[in-house]
Amino acid sequence: MLEVKQDSVLFSASSNKQYDLPFLWLRDNCQCNECRIVETQEKQFLLHTVPVDISPTNVELKDESLFVLWPDGHQSVIPLNKIEESGRSRYPEYKSWTSGFTPRKFDWNEFLSNKEIASDALQTFVSFGVIILNNAPKDLNSLELLSKRLGPIHETLFERIHNVSVTGQVYNVAHTSKGLPPHNDFASYQSQPSVQALHMLENECEGGDSIIVDGWKVVKDLKKNNPEYFKILREFNVPFRQFDENNETYAEAPMIKCKSDGSIESFRFSNQLMQMIDPDRQGIKDFYKAYHEVSARVHDSKYSSTFRLNGGEALIVASLRVLHARETFIPNGKRHLQDAYFVYDNALNNSLI
Ligand SMILES: [Fe+2]
Repeated sequence: MLEVKQDSVLFSASSNKQYDLPFLWLRDNCQCNECRIVETQEKQFLLHTVPVDISPTNVELKDESLFVLWPDGHQSVIPLNKIEESGRSRYPEYKSWTSGFTPRKFDWNEFLSNKEIASDALQTFVSFGVIILNNAPKDLNSLELLSKRLGPIHETLFERIHNVSVTGQVYNVAHTSKGLPPHNDFASYQSQPSVQALHMLENECEGGDSIIVDGWKVVKDLKKNNPEYFKILREFNVPFRQFDENNETYAEAPMIKCKSDGSIESFRFSNQLMQMIDPDRQGIKDFYKAYHEVSARVHDSKYSSTFRLNGGEALIVASLRVLHARETFIPNGKRHLQDAYFVYDNALNNSLI
């Protein structure tokens, strides 16, 4: 079925799905060699060079393609499979989880050497926001090697690869043996690191189990149960700061950010880095009620997955989604963790290779 309407073409594809294609869409998506750069498949045609009310003189369906003739004589060709492909979701589906969840483990060497295993691991990472690599080397700075799959390291001020041990430099609570409540790192950056790899080199201390929380699940439930609080946390800017004698990082941002379709893009949460908010700020009372509620949910055991990260294991989290935490430990042995950040876009797109 093919029908030319006032400003669009209606047709049914072989999948029986009906498409309503605007004339401007049809002109813009012409796949001919004139409208695209053949070598790169980039678009060359400029939409504003045709009238906004452009209308085809003829439309035909043949050889599994739409052929559209325009008043200036240009003929557009658009393969139907291209149209169908454009509606398919590109990435694995997001799957939320709660306390019963344990991250899937993949072998470090296989992740780096075997493309199929890497793709499976990265797709799992995209779905659940977390994986563990085991049999990892216990050598310093091994995290550099993960760039092969996760893209370049996202450096911050402070170290390129952070050392977390009680014997090193202390600029935040992670460098003590205290418990660490769920958070993501560097809430004090507007562009907060989006992937964090935590590589345990040695873990001989008693206690100090790792905890992860699906922050998106927490805020999705908050949205369902208390939409007003969700709205407040989307709109109210919160100050965060991390610093030492040489470095200063500071950002104000809402705790929840959403994409244009309303789905969650990031959850920024760090009790330790949150700064005093100007008490004169409008909405401060309501913000604090909403913050109290989301904090209670973040710390609710029903959302947290707890496990021991052993020496030679690397926990990788999609850090704008999955919060990490650590139970208190007794510093009666060696405990050395290194962490580094990567860019989620790179991990996401590498999951398709
Ligand atoms: Fe952290």
